[in-house]
Amino acid sequence: MSEKIRFELGQAGLPPAWYNLNADFPQPLPPPLHPGTKQPLPPEALEAIFPRNLIDQEISAEPWIEIPEPVRDIYALWRPTPLLRAVRLEKALNTPAHIYYKYEGVSPAGSHKVNTSVPQAYYNKAAGTKRLATETGAGQWGSSLAFACSLFGLECNVYMVKVSFDQKPYRRMLMHAWGATVHPSPSGETEFGRKLQAGDPHCPGSLGIAISEAIEDTVKTPRTKYALGSVLNHVCLHQTVIGEETIRQMEMAGEEPDVIFGCCGGGSNFAGLAFPFLRLKIREGKKYRIVGVEPSACPSLTRGELRYDFGDTAETTPLMKMYTLGHKFIPPSIHAGGLRYHGMSPMVSHALQLGLIEARAYHQTRVFEAAIQFARTEGLVPAPESAHAIAAVVDEAVKCREEGRKRVLLFNLSGHGMLDLSSYESYLHGKLADV
Ligand SMILES: Cc1ncc(COP(=O)(O)O)c(C=O)c1O
Repeated sequence: MSEKIRFELGQAGLPPAWYNLNADFPQPLPPPLHPGTKQPLPPEALEAIFPRNLIDQEISAEPWIEIPEPVRDIYALWRPTPLLRAVRLEKALNTPAHIYYKYEGVSPAGSHKVNTSVPQAYYNKAAGTKRLATETGAGQWGSSLAFACSLFGLECNVYMVKVSFDQKPYRRMLMHAWGATVHPSPSGETEFGRKLQAGDPHCPGSLGIAISEAIEDTVKTPRTKYALGSVLNHVCLHQTVIGEETIRQMEMAGEEPDVIFGCCGGGSNFAGLAFPFLRLKIREGKKYRIVGVEPSACPSLTRGELRYDFGDTAETTPLMKMYTLGHKFIPPSIHAGGLRYHGMSPMVSHALQLGLIEARAYHQTRVFEAAIQFARTEGLVPAPESAHAIAAVVDEAVKCREEGRKRVLLFNLSGHGMLDLSSYESYLHGKLADV
């Protein structure tokens, strides 16, 4: 064996706590506002949709929040996840760069989303919730929540963006396997859904619409709460197990990253990897460059406006300060369904505004080209979402070759693409267009 390519922590290496970047931001995060009064939202106002224990995490400024034992026990089914060095991709690119990736696709649902669905189900169960309502795009989040609900004995009701419900049956089947109920959104289940259906029977749906339906369902159904798979502070918090593990694994590899990449939909897998490294950047003056990568077709970070906006189409959420394309924006039906959200996590948005991170956008054909190159060198077929980070890593590695400079590149491979093969087929048959 020449190079060591796999860095494993073992079960004892599970982090004891999640890290909260809100404790270290050089300027405080702008608070959510009440849409009527435009005043900071009192935390009690969130109790209609979230349990108090999760609201406490949402507004916490504590740097560390202990991971409860029952959550750690479930995390242990797949965590700590491996860190790998992509030596074959390095060789194919003929680059002096060293490329590392943290692989979250080993989880039961195939992505990082279970890092937060499990604690969200746990805290809801502890608070007496019987049923969770949520939205999902291509089904990654819905299946992750269905899995978590099945372990904690909660009912799970999912509004799935209609175009994905019709085109991506396998994650819908996965949700059924884990016992969830799944509706195509816009649905006939809610007033908002019925109104949209009446206006346009062929409406393809969007995440913003599905969120509105899930929230309406929550407030109208007893003992039901709402769960969100990205964007919010407590979701980013739960994802930090990714970066905490990675810091230790990079130490095992004996290297420090120069540039860190993650794809950005609502911002949670990016936050999960980046925020622990941002702590070191802020507290210890580390010089990492940290890059969020998004689709050119839904470019909230690179072309959105930083302002207060709603998180959903029906204007039922509080106003959040974020980079946004506007809550009425319906993104084109690109194949990275999980990156089709009009806004960006307020914490990720704040980090960008403070100059702590950078952002880049890629068209989907370039993303699939990089995904195929990764699959043909490293073997894993990445989720189209994660492949956005790969495209940016490949470009950076090529730059390293052109400049004759070694840099250490690290990215989050947030999920596998084994349920996205029809998208790969479209790409390989030349049927994919840039929109
Ligand atoms: C594999 C994968 N990566 C990334 C994302 C984007 O979400 P986020 O930005 O919250 O990580 C999704 C969303 O569904 C996903 O399924």
